[in-house]
Amino acid sequence: MSSLFDPVQAGDLKLANRVVMAPLTRNRSPNAIPQEIAATYYAQRATAGLLITEATAISHQGQGYADVPGLYGTEQLDAWKRVTDAVHAKGGKIVVQLWHVGRVSHTELQPEGGKPVAPSAITAKTKTVLIKDGVPTFVATSEPRALDAEELPGIVHAYAAAARNAVETAGFDGVELHGANGYLLDQFLKDGSNKRTDDYGGSIENRARLLLEATRAVVDAVGGGKTGIRLSPVTPANDAHDSDPQPLFTYVVKQLAPLGLAYVHVIEGATGGPREIEDRPFDYEALKAAYRQAGGKGAWMVNNGYDKPLADEAVKEGDDLVAFGKPFIANPDLVRRLRENAPLNEVDKATMYGGGTKGYTDYPALD
Ligand SMILES: Cc1cc2nc3c(=O)[nH]c(=O)nc-3n(C[C@H](O)[C@H](O)[C@H](O)COP(=O)(O)O)c2cc1C
Repeated sequence: MSSLFDPVQAGDLKLANRVVMAPLTRNRSPNAIPQEIAATYYAQRATAGLLITEATAISHQGQGYADVPGLYGTEQLDAWKRVTDAVHAKGGKIVVQLWHVGRVSHTELQPEGGKPVAPSAITAKTKTVLIKDGVPTFVATSEPRALDAEELPGIVHAYAAAARNAVETAGFDGVELHGANGYLLDQFLKDGSNKRTDDYGGSIENRARLLLEATRAVVDAVGGGKTGIRLSPVTPANDAHDSDPQPLFTYVVKQLAPLGLAYVHVIEGATGGPREIEDRPFDYEALKAAYRQAGGKGAWMVNNGYDKPLADEAVKEGDDLVAFGKPFIANPDLVRRLRENAPLNEVDKATMYGGGTKGYTDYPALD
């Protein structure tokens, strides 16, 4: 029987253990460029079987928060190369999370102060972060405009270009499409945010079209074995809502199955909140079974509120990888601490988003 600390193959990625660092936005990349301290931060955590970076914008239009990084400019790619070199020097593996926020943005962050884009012109009831007088400040998202169908191939192309740049120029071991948490791909999937009447709205097949086109384009660009995807069937994060998520996500994973992905990453329940939501029941075992029955061979990665006992149980029951978020912010040596059942540092919420080294690279390791 497998343990959390056994190696595992996820597509092309040979991972030393099954403990994954979940993607964690830290808002420390002014002008969308990761700083030198980002290399230190990720290298400190390189004993994870896999590091997934903070969400990283595939285009200027994909930006939705202050000081988050990008993958669409030379300086950004050079900066990421310093990060991947530092992680590889420690023997770690790192993939970048490909992000288009869609409607979860603000005109101040958009090209020429334009409206954020979305499947439909419905404002998300959520907040984003701007820097006001040097201080990170929560503000309501701006009213979006609905994307024209003619604009969608450009977005699909941006996913593929970012993936290619990530692997070929920035030295990443692979990429993860951010299909979760109420951002663009999730906005298209779910009927609470997608009211389109063209080929990208209405039926499940139509709502899943953009996510699947983007995934196939990324697979064509870097190979399925270097591609993962994150999904969150029932999270209410960023005003995400679907009236019938089980058949929607069953269809999605069945379509993903033949693509030869490295992994499928599923957030169970409300991101950062309860693992079960009373009025949003969901059967994750059935989802995994549907993927396997359709021939999906990628690693199955689970996330949300995992501790050691829950993670042990998940791996025993056949999940391949467990992603930890907040525990990895506060514990650079999380793998060792889990292995030795050592106590964990608590995360300091005040330094999660924005700032410098405090609450970023100064959490102590054991010894
Ligand atoms: C500070 C912070 C930043 C986050 N940023 C991202 C992100 O960039 N992309 C993403 O998919 N999820 C993001 N999440 C969600 C985490 O990846 C994870 O799903 C969540 O924290 C639940 O896992 P945990 O209980 O192990 O912390 C973030 C969470 C936190 C606390």
